[in-house]
Amino acid sequence: MGVALIVLAAGQGTRMNSDLPKVLHRLGGAPLVLHALRAGATLAPERTVIVAGHGAEAVTKAVRAYDPDATIAIQTEQLGTGHAVKVALPALQGFSGKVIVLYGDTPFLSAETLAALAAAPADVTVLGFHTDAMPQRYGRLVTDGETLLRIVEFKDATPAERAVPLINSGVVACDAALLAELVTGLTNANAAGEYYLTDIVAAARAKGRTTGFTLCAEAETLGIDSRESLAAAEAALQARARAGAMANGVTLTAPDTVFFAWDTVLGRDCTVGPNVVFGPGVTVETGAEILAFSHLEGAHVGAGSRVGPFARLRPGAELGEDVHVGNFVEVKNTTLGSGAKANHLTYLGDAEVGERTNIGAGTVTCNYDGVMKHRTVIGRDAFVGSDTMLVAPVTVGDRAMTATGAVITKDIPAEALAIARAEQVNKPGLAVRLMERLSAGKARRPKEGT
Ligand code: UD1
Ligand code: MG
Repeated sequence: MGVALIVLAAGQGTRMNSDLPKVLHRLGGAPLVLHALRAGATLAPERTVIVAGHGAEAVTKAVRAYDPDATIAIQTEQLGTGHAVKVALPALQGFSGKVIVLYGDTPFLSAETLAALAAAPADVTVLGFHTDAMPQRYGRLVTDGETLLRIVEFKDATPAERAVPLINSGVVACDAALLAELVTGLTNANAAGEYYLTDIVAAARAKGRTTGFTLCAEAETLGIDSRESLAAAEAALQARARAGAMANGVTLTAPDTVFFAWDTVLGRDCTVGPNVVFGPGVTVETGAEILAFSHLEGAHVGAGSRVGPFARLRPGAELGEDVHVGNFVEVKNTTLGSGAKANHLTYLGDAEVGERTNIGAGTVTCNYDGVMKHRTVIGRDAFVGSDTMLVAPVTVGDRAMTATGAVITKDIPAEALAIARAEQVNKPGLAVRLMERLSAGKARRPKEGT
């Protein structure tokens, strides 16, 4: 049977105390809602509907960047989770199968948990978890053996119900036609004055339909509702990423100081030194070494390459095999062919560097003229002398050289040496005479403060 997803993401997240809609706060470098979508995507849904409200435009943009086919349903007033699902129903017209409702602020649901929920036989199945923490606010699952009788919200619960250690995660699976019927019948006669999605359980039973629950670990249902819970989720994500990398054969010299993005890929036998930060979109191939204090984002590092210490790879940095990018080198939107080296104090932006080419210390590709960006193309086996300014657009041919301190404004043919600097003049004895003159001038000056 097919599956459709509804992701609830209309809430403001008052406790975040933020102008940014809650689901756009980032976890492992990606907005929270993307984590929820990614978890849901493991069910290969036929349709995905995101219910947006607060900051709907920004939420739509973030969602579309990940899934261009997702439908956005707008909930202008947040009248409760049941109302939010109702808003999503028109987008499910013609769909018959199971609908899974997820929250955009709950990033850690596993594929196994969702698969088990989707496969559960009851007409309505709720995902719950056991806890010792006795949380305030969360709904309680009132059960009789394997049967779920109803869900009671904390606000509406009796002391005995509040003592139930089985909690509603918020995730629900329900037959599409039944869901439409149940949600349409909801009222808001409760302590919060909201349309509770949780009320569909008792309503389904009243119609003689079957209801049940599946379970997951509490950690999977961790929802974000404050900066503190966001930080806790980030810590959990990082701990998992570090452990995962090490299990995959990556050496982390100081694991607690390395920060991963949700999609970081590190090949076997890579080594990552202390205080390295991976932004989104980084792949590092087998055996590469990322040394201390490097920052990488949107970059690909080929096998056996060495990056850092103190290097910065920005989006579009493409390093071939055995490339060296050393300290205080920044690389953006630039390809470095295999064996190329830029070891010190260099900026390479919007450039192409051929295989085995050496970029001397202090080289800058002057890519920006104040209005437009221009490309620098450097061939293979070239040697760019220290302190070369390459004023783009410009081309350096294969096996060409630039003299130290050159300001290159014209293309250099293959195998040529370009010298572009003022010629040196030596004035015999002038250093000493100049010093004497300066010292005499200082002696004649009145003392400070007199
Ligand atoms: C909900 C459940 C509760 C459960 C808890 C788990 C209900 C009535 N209660 O409570 O049983 O233990 O989640 O976290 O369902 N949202 C909308 N539109 C709305 C209201 C909410 O899109 O009108 C979205 C929110 O943005 C959020 C999610 O739905 O992503 C859950 O809403 P929230 O207000 O956090 O529900 P809880 O009170 O936590
Ligand atoms: Mg909540």
